[in-house]
Amino acid sequence: MRATAIAQPNIALVKYWGKADILRNLPAVGSLSITLDALTTTMTVDLQGAGRADELILNGQINHKIMPRVSACLDRLLGKNRGPAAIRSECNFPIAAGLASSAAAFAALVVATNAAADLSLDKLSLARAAGAASGSAARSLYGGFVELSVTPEDIAVESVVEENAWPLDVIVAVNAHGPKAMSSGEAMQLSAQTSPFYDRWVKSQDVDLAAARTAVLERDFSKLAEVSEHSCLKMHSVMWGSRPPVVYWNAATIACMESVRQMQCDGLDVFFTVDAGPQVKVICLPEIADEVHSIVRGTDGVLSTMRTALGQGARVVGDG
Ligand code: PMV
Repeated sequence: MRATAIAQPNIALVKYWGKADILRNLPAVGSLSITLDALTTTMTVDLQGAGRADELILNGQINHKIMPRVSACLDRLLGKNRGPAAIRSECNFPIAAGLASSAAAFAALVVATNAAADLSLDKLSLARAAGAASGSAARSLYGGFVELSVTPEDIAVESVVEENAWPLDVIVAVNAHGPKAMSSGEAMQLSAQTSPFYDRWVKSQDVDLAAARTAVLERDFSKLAEVSEHSCLKMHSVMWGSRPPVVYWNAATIACMESVRQMQCDGLDVFFTVDAGPQVKVICLPEIADEVHSIVRGTDGVLSTMRTALGQGARVVGDG
């Protein structure tokens, strides 16, 4: 009745922004991501260890904020008549700051719960359960380059290319501490209701997805760089066009983009992406990662950096 799972965040190269069905948390668009290796969430789910209600201890402290979504996810997997669960989670990177901590958390939660309750659910069913809690979490069940597609009924997720088949490195520039001002869920809804660019965003997604998928299958770095930066800037344009505007960037975000532009002008194979937060993820070939890392680290306003390769999908690591 107890199991531990480890999961890593994933970073979308072709972004998901907007929901087709808010109640089921069904994304409005497909997406393509990379699963990271060095950023980890390790979660133990104990289905008999709690008192009268579910409890979550996150990095040693009781957490109430994410609890309703955690409980809803457990209800979905175990049924509403289940007993309370005790959950302990350790996360080695900033939480709720645009680094996909919720993706890693819900991926770990469904994998650990599946093992603790001996549910024997397959990976896609677990991905769907994670995705119902956090759209991007479905992708963290898989390793390497992962594509999520949306059908009228549900989502489908698959690994397009495994993590070792095309090694890339990611330098994460942490440009602010503390949680973001608006959750991605709220911001997506605001964009869908008020941004004049939202409909065009949804309509143009399939072209970007096809281009990115081909770039990954052909290991075409410059094509992947072009479509990824385009998808990122297009998503942020949708946010900026919302009323009130949703702006997650700060000065260091723009400084990092400038650094990447300069490296590209100098002939380096590198590109950036930014999610719902000011942090910038810089993707490059492993052979130039030392050089890229030192340039990103030295960029104005960057508080700290993390470097990671691509990683595996969420998995069970123990029964305690
Ligand atoms: O999974 P959510 O609801 O936190 O949304 C994630 C949205 C982005 O990170 C901005 C884009 C993406 O595809 O991950």
